[in-house]
Amino acid sequence: MHKKFLVLAAVAIIFGLNQRAMAEPQAEVLHFWTSGGEARSVAVLQKEFVANGGIWTDMPVAGGGGDTAMTALRARVLAGNAPAAAQVKGPAIQEWYEEDALADISAVANAEGWDKLLPNAIAQHMKCEGSWCAAPVNVHRVDWIWANAEVLAKAGIEMPTSWEEFNAGAKKLKSMGIIPLAHGGQAWQDATVFEVVALGIGGPEFFHKAFVELDDASLKSNTMIAVFDQVRILRGFVDDNFSGRDWNLATSMVINGEAAFQIMGDWAKGEFTAAGKVPGIDFLCASAPGGGYLYNVDSFAMFRVSGSEKAEGQALLAKLIMGENFQKVFNLNKGSIPARVTTPLNEFDFCARQSAYDMAVSSGNGSLLPSYAHGMALRGAQAGAITDVVTAFFNSNMSSDEAVGRLSAAIKNSL
Ligand code: GAL
Repeated sequence: MHKKFLVLAAVAIIFGLNQRAMAEPQAEVLHFWTSGGEARSVAVLQKEFVANGGIWTDMPVAGGGGDTAMTALRARVLAGNAPAAAQVKGPAIQEWYEEDALADISAVANAEGWDKLLPNAIAQHMKCEGSWCAAPVNVHRVDWIWANAEVLAKAGIEMPTSWEEFNAGAKKLKSMGIIPLAHGGQAWQDATVFEVVALGIGGPEFFHKAFVELDDASLKSNTMIAVFDQVRILRGFVDDNFSGRDWNLATSMVINGEAAFQIMGDWAKGEFTAAGKVPGIDFLCASAPGGGYLYNVDSFAMFRVSGSEKAEGQALLAKLIMGENFQKVFNLNKGSIPARVTTPLNEFDFCARQSAYDMAVSSGNGSLLPSYAHGMALRGAQAGAITDVVTAFFNSNMSSDEAVGRLSAAIKNSL
């Protein structure tokens, strides 16, 4: 009897172990990477996950900048059916944590020594009250200008080093029948152009006061009026069909020479390279006039889900995301630079190396700044309040004076 029990117990244990070994890590991953360059990039993660025994369920939600994806994510969490991982970044990570929606991935982060592999500023975004709640994939720089090299050569203009130069070059292009600025009229793209101009004209200190501290005097200052004035000038360099256009279609206009410039973060480079274009030959990159560095770190937050295969999936995903190979291959495709500081940059192009260099310099002199337009600087309500004003300005004849008044009022109402 005793012996029979032991045999049964042994069988049960072996069977149980087998079951455990057979339970594959699973992850449903919600993201908004659906353009050519973005899809190539997220495929790197999917492939690595599957190669390591994981089962990946893809949940792409189209829409640049991720507004639609964030609405979809909220609906899923409210319905009690959160995805295992979602592309969430900046202060939104903390907002989800405060709603008790996130899983703790400290076990992986501590075992892998993330604290030593990440710049402190990035690590702070990934932590929720000391524990790790998100994994960073990259550092995108927002304040870039992209150009079609052949078009600039034909017009006899160089990459601009001041906004006056940009305006003069754009006027010339317009007179030649070339669209100076490729732009997509979507709120987040208007906000992107606006914040790049704000950094360029106002400088890092002004940017910090206005978009991090929400300082009222800065929001309605003469400097902010000058920022809106320049945005109004840029509005005149956009073609008539800009409304609603996706950002990657705007990039295509630069790729095929229909337009000369695009003001956009370096995910645009992912589109150029996916189209087989070479920096320095087919297209040019330059940091926008003015100086400083606007960072935008993409990351995945892990949500509270039940089931050991999902927890294993989250752990595997977190480990792979911070792995050296993933950080290299993903970012080569995405246009960004690795978040992990030990990843060698020798295979990266000069735009990426410039980004890494400028990031180090700006981190040393206080001009490394979080992008407000890409959800790194402010909580959703405040960022949304600013963007509403910017997009209303872009799509009307509103004066710059009125815009700063509205900006100041919108922030007061949102606090
Ligand atoms: C940014 C995001 C990038 C890129 C872009 C366009 O906010 O950080 O990864 O995808 O939007 O969708």
